[in-house]
Amino acid sequence: MKDLHDRVAAEVRRAVVGQDHALGLLLAAAALGGHVLLEGPPGTAKTLLARAFARALDTTFGRIQFTPDMLPSDVTGTVALRSGDLQFRPGPIFASVVLADEVNRTPPKTQAALLEAMEERQVTVDGERHPLPEPFVVLATQNPVEYEGTYPLPEAQLDRFLFRAEVGYPSEEDERALLKLARRGLAPAALDDVRAVAGPDDLRAARDAVGAVRATDAVEAFVVAIARATRDLPGVTLGASPRAAVHLLAAARAAALLAGRDYVTPDDVVHMARPVLAHRLVLAPEAELDRFTAADAVAAALATVPVPR
Ligand SMILES: Nc1ncnc2c1ncn2[C@@H]1O[C@H](COP(=O)(O)OP(=O)(O)OP(=O)(O)O)[C@@H](O)[C@H]1O
Ligand SMILES: [Mg+2]
Repeated sequence: MKDLHDRVAAEVRRAVVGQDHALGLLLAAAALGGHVLLEGPPGTAKTLLARAFARALDTTFGRIQFTPDMLPSDVTGTVALRSGDLQFRPGPIFASVVLADEVNRTPPKTQAALLEAMEERQVTVDGERHPLPEPFVVLATQNPVEYEGTYPLPEAQLDRFLFRAEVGYPSEEDERALLKLARRGLAPAALDDVRAVAGPDDLRAARDAVGAVRATDAVEAFVVAIARATRDLPGVTLGASPRAAVHLLAAARAAALLAGRDYVTPDDVVHMARPVLAHRLVLAPEAELDRFTAADAVAAALATVPVPR
């Protein structure tokens, strides 16, 4: 896994400066078969990072650019008459890595088609089920700035994302370095230099390796206690689900492996708590007015749970 990370990171870095935290999450998600929501202000390389990452993996790639006029069938596919037969024409969702770009620009009905496919790993068109490939990883980007004509993803369904990777502004040093990258006009040219260095077998091996990482009962109890603590916090109206606990333990296993260990430490859990949990918490309106954020809520939950030793 460490080796896989280094190989993929070396390729992605040809096109993207920094954003190491988000890259680590993308890799953990690919190993686990989880979905990632990349969120950050405009122009911070969310799309570029997802594209570079997908290029570094030798798997099928689908890109869906969401727009206000998109229909569910533009995601899932359609049944069309072809030489006298009704045939299913698969949509762009039928790929191992799917970039769902700017998901909050499309109306709820089309978002629902994506969210359903993410959870069920299959698509139903005209009553017929079509399984999605394996692995199947959705990288969705969205801009947290709510402007007119955007449709925030339904809060209750954010639970389907393993991680929310917060993509922020680069450091001054990184911002200078990114000016030096090759460009064709304004467009990044370095993306073409990113080579595919990891295939489905590598991802399968990574998944098995993550599954073999040991977690003690104490670590499992720690994960559960954190999830439960989020449900009792004042200012939080929807806490972490049991699914979130499953995701947190899996993410901690991946973090352990990335750190070169075959066992989970409480630190791995703490490290992954924010990217796994923050987007699933729904805050009370008055808490938001007090500038209490979901990240603050995760920190508050962690503060109430004693760290096992
Ligand atoms: N960390 C970075 N490394 C390299 N290039 C960068 C980086 N950050 C921004 N850029 C440059 O900014 C451009 C915009 O990036 P990108 O389109 O990926 O942003 P985005 O976060 O998807 O924005 P939006 O929210 O508007 O979709 C890139 O094409 C690239 O030239
Ligand atoms: Mg973008």
